[in-house]
Amino acid sequence: GLQRTEMHQVTRRLRFYETALFVPSAGAAAVGLLGTGLVVQRVRRRRAIRRRFNPYIAGAPVLEDEMFFGREKLTQRLLNVLHHNSLMITGERRIGKTTFLYHLKKVLTADEGSDYRFFPVFVDLQGVPEHGFFHALMSDVVEALGLTPATRESLRFLPQPDSYDGRDFSHDLQRVIEELKVRTDKKVKLALLIDEVDVLNEYSERINQRLRSIFMKTFSENLVAVMSGVGVKRTWNSEVSPWYNFFDEIEIAGFTREEAEALIKRPVAGVFRYQPEAVERILALSQLKPYLLQKFCVHAVNRMLEDGRTTVRSTDVEAARHAVMFEGALGPAEAAEAPTHVSA
Ligand SMILES: Nc1ncnc2c1ncn2[C@@H]1O[C@H](COP(=O)(O)OP(=O)(O)O)[C@@H](O)[C@H]1O
Ligand SMILES: [Mg+2]
Repeated sequence: GLQRTEMHQVTRRLRFYETALFVPSAGAAAVGLLGTGLVVQRVRRRRAIRRRFNPYIAGAPVLEDEMFFGREKLTQRLLNVLHHNSLMITGERRIGKTTFLYHLKKVLTADEGSDYRFFPVFVDLQGVPEHGFFHALMSDVVEALGLTPATRESLRFLPQPDSYDGRDFSHDLQRVIEELKVRTDKKVKLALLIDEVDVLNEYSERINQRLRSIFMKTFSENLVAVMSGVGVKRTWNSEVSPWYNFFDEIEIAGFTREEAEALIKRPVAGVFRYQPEAVERILALSQLKPYLLQKFCVHAVNRMLEDGRTTVRSTDVEAARHAVMFEGALGPAEAAEAPTHVSA
């Protein structure tokens, strides 16, 4: 047989970790890195004290994703049912309804996971009088969707709310939905996220019925709503069942322990620390309600900063108690109405 001999020259360079110098230099590098890390952290902390870094938000709706916590199950549940059903979210004041609606708006805008394409529109009904109701709805629709000039011109909607009624609204909604259908191959769902629906309780029955017929019949294919408020009036004179009978009702409540702990710690992670007892104290005093959690954190961190420290102590939380319970949970007016809450 044939025999072939080949010569290969192999030069093998030592891998970097095989060199004699690796261990000591890696050690030095690790120590160096650690040292640098500590220095960086110390600098970061000092700067945070100087700038009075306090990222908690207590009062205004939370719009930033970094400060939004929890609500995963609720979000999932809404995504699951919203193509079939409109929903009513109820919950006490400052439990997080408005914050959740803003969150939902982002989630629905980004949602790609179904045969439906959502076009969410946020509507705040606070202070909207009955005669301006449908105009207020359409006003937000027009503003949020960036309609084409052609569609815009086909609407009855004008900047002034004079005499714009449910019929005008239906007419315009039709045109809006036609345009949305051109924008996507998926099934169109215009999703009205309507906050502060408690004002509907003050409106006449006629307008409530009108609302019902718009959602239940005329546009049921392409229109869904998520309403939120403290509660809805249950007693109407009419025989016809009111709009909310067709809505799934979900109550929004406080956080789980895990969600609450994340809200306490994550916003200041890498900058400030909490003594474990301080965290426990906040969890207990806040009853896991997001507003109270944030409020306790704002005050406790402020006190810590005033003292030039970077760890929140349980004494900071105790000191915050007075401020949170009196000026916080209840506004001054409510505090006067409900003194039992204050002393708790
Ligand atoms: N998901 C959340 N994550 C973090 N903080 C929240 C959340 N929801 C509510 N909060 C806190 O509660 C406060 C009130 O929330 P908001 O949405 O205005 O309540 P509501 O609309 O029910 O009155 C906010 O300022 C914030 O401190
Ligand atoms: Mg609100």
